[in-house]
Amino acid sequence: MQDNEYLIPWDKNSIDVKYTEVLILGSGIAGLFTAINLSEKYEVTILTKKNIMESNTEHAQGGIAVALNLEDSPESHYGDTIKAGGGLCNIDAVKILAEKGPNCVRKLIELGTQFDRHDDMLDFTTEGAHSRKRVLRAKGDATGGEIERALVEKVRNSSVQVKENYFVIDFIKNNDNEVIGALVLDNNCKMEAWLSKTVIIATGGLGQLYKHTTNPAVTTGDGIVAAYRAGAELMDMEFIQFHPTALLIPGVPSFLISEAARGEGAKLLNSQGKRFMESIPGQELAARDVVARAIWEQMKTGTVYLDFSYINSQKVQERFPKIYKTCLQYGIDISTTPVPVGPAAHYIMGGVKVDNSGQTSLVNLYACGECACNGVHGANRLASNSLLDGLVFAEMITEKIKQETRPLPRWGDAKSFTNHVKSNKRYKTDVERIRAELREIMWDRVGIIRNTEGLSDAYARIERLKEVYVPRVKIPELELGNMLTLGSIIVKSAFERQESRGGHYRSDYPEPLEDWRKHSVYKKGEKNVSYVAI
Ligand code: SIN
Repeated sequence: MQDNEYLIPWDKNSIDVKYTEVLILGSGIAGLFTAINLSEKYEVTILTKKNIMESNTEHAQGGIAVALNLEDSPESHYGDTIKAGGGLCNIDAVKILAEKGPNCVRKLIELGTQFDRHDDMLDFTTEGAHSRKRVLRAKGDATGGEIERALVEKVRNSSVQVKENYFVIDFIKNNDNEVIGALVLDNNCKMEAWLSKTVIIATGGLGQLYKHTTNPAVTTGDGIVAAYRAGAELMDMEFIQFHPTALLIPGVPSFLISEAARGEGAKLLNSQGKRFMESIPGQELAARDVVARAIWEQMKTGTVYLDFSYINSQKVQERFPKIYKTCLQYGIDISTTPVPVGPAAHYIMGGVKVDNSGQTSLVNLYACGECACNGVHGANRLASNSLLDGLVFAEMITEKIKQETRPLPRWGDAKSFTNHVKSNKRYKTDVERIRAELREIMWDRVGIIRNTEGLSDAYARIERLKEVYVPRVKIPELELGNMLTLGSIIVKSAFERQESRGGHYRSDYPEPLEDWRKHSVYKKGEKNVSYVAI
């Protein structure tokens, strides 16, 4: 596998070309909110990998953090976010998040999102590391689903064109190195080129790189790695957040057990039925990395459980209907029986490096939501800040793009790519095997606890997997190519950061070090990761 500008060869003369003023890739909260905002002024097209609802947003349970409660303030939300971020937050981005959050959430409500209320007033709850009750939820534990429903309904009733089952392969550039569109596979697996004045990546995260993840199948990091291949800088790729509590039953898919459960009083028990978080500051609501590592430690001697019986049983069913029903499918009534849980890859704090207006290091290419990194989450995201991030920075992109005037690009300007080494037609990549091995390596060696030996081994093994990978124009192969590239980048970034901070924990460098209080930046063609001061 080579580190080319494009994942597969393509020829400018044999491809269908489409035009749109604004091209948005992805249909989670960031993509949909950007589309709605920009559709007032532009012809907008969303291309999304599966059906429009399928995204991390749709799966989000706990909620959206926002300083709208009368006892709360943007200053307090700002303070908690900075504290959770382990000294690595971009303070201007956090200010924007906390201050613009309330208005953006009001807009979300105007667009039809129905958050849960008590006596007609918005009902706030808490989660780990929040000093105030500031998390809004919907339908108990289906917050993301309700937000997605409202935004999709709005998009469906707008001028925004939506194309489902479209897979982004790469970005198309002109000879001045400006992005002018995207190369995609359409819903019949035919290659198409979409040209636009502006391209916005909102393709979400990469949880599928890990054996255990709370993320849906679509999260293979395609947008992040396509930006990397095009030459965009990536930032802080070593910082992965592991959610402490996903359902852990052998043979059963990972399923998020919301932090809101611990926010409402559920407790963690070890295999002897004893609490083990009591002596740790913050207890069950300590920062996610702290709780995840404590669970990991306990799992060495047996199963860890989350016990909902500390919450009134009637309330458990009303407050967590989705978790209740899902666990019941597997024979566990959470109102009476502790649920087996373990950590799972949940969120990447890093991503395509952007400024506070979502501009990447490439002209005409923007990014927002989980695939983007402006440093707002630092080394560790505060619970329920991700939906707000998607919303607020979608708004920031909108403001920036509305000030720009650019002509539609011309097809003649596109640089194509035909000089690729011919692939060996007789050789077929064993996608399932390589994918499973990669996910295993990432989980074992690049997971909750990392060290030099494990990371070196992971790097060598991923390089060997790349040697037997042959790209083909098929989605599983393309996804695997992306995952292999991202795996190496994460390993490299984790290897070079010789300290522990937030979501990146090294057993051989267990403390945060002042000299390392800087963002990592990595770009195609560079041998080493570089660093920028915060
Ligand atoms: C959860 O419900 O625990 C997830 C919330 C988040 O990751 O922000």
